[in-house]
Amino acid sequence: MKVSRKFNLENNITGCLLYYKREFLQILEGEETVILELYHRIEEDKRHHHVTLLYNEKLEVKAFPNWSMAYKELTDDDVDKLKVHLNLNEFTSLISAIDTSTISKKLFLYFSQSILKD
Ligand SMILES: Cc1cc2nc3c(=O)[nH]c(=O)nc-3n(C[C@H](O)[C@H](O)[C@H](O)COP(=O)(O)O)c2cc1C
Repeated sequence: MKVSRKFNLENNITGCLLYYKREFLQILEGEETVILELYHRIEEDKRHHHVTLLYNEKLEVKAFPNWSMAYKELTDDDVDKLKVHLNLNEFTSLISAIDTSTISKKLFLYFSQSILKD
């Protein structure tokens, strides 16, 4: 987190990192070439496996303008609330959701609210 926050701050990258039961979900915002270069570095990081790009889009407004990398470890209670919020039966159905873009955006919006409150 220390290395990430320093790099992100110096390169005008913002975002959010969620952790739940050995899985990370991350949103990165910034200049496209910088983000792609970072994404490839994260992809090759030997500390984790099975990196998947859920969506990539042009942003009008950043969702995390003041966070070099907001971090939250989700509890079962958080995930239960999320399931109700997204109307999902299983956390894993996030992965197989038809419109991953919408699902992941909702997920981050939902948790960014709780992160910003902390
Ligand atoms: C889940 C995860 C998220 C990461 N997010 C970032 C990030 O936002 N910014 C960053 O600079 N490094 C991030 N890293 C670390 C990079 O993978 C990499 O170790 C770091 O950029 C240093 O690169 P280097 O080892 O090539 O020097 C992340 C690593 C993991 C496992």
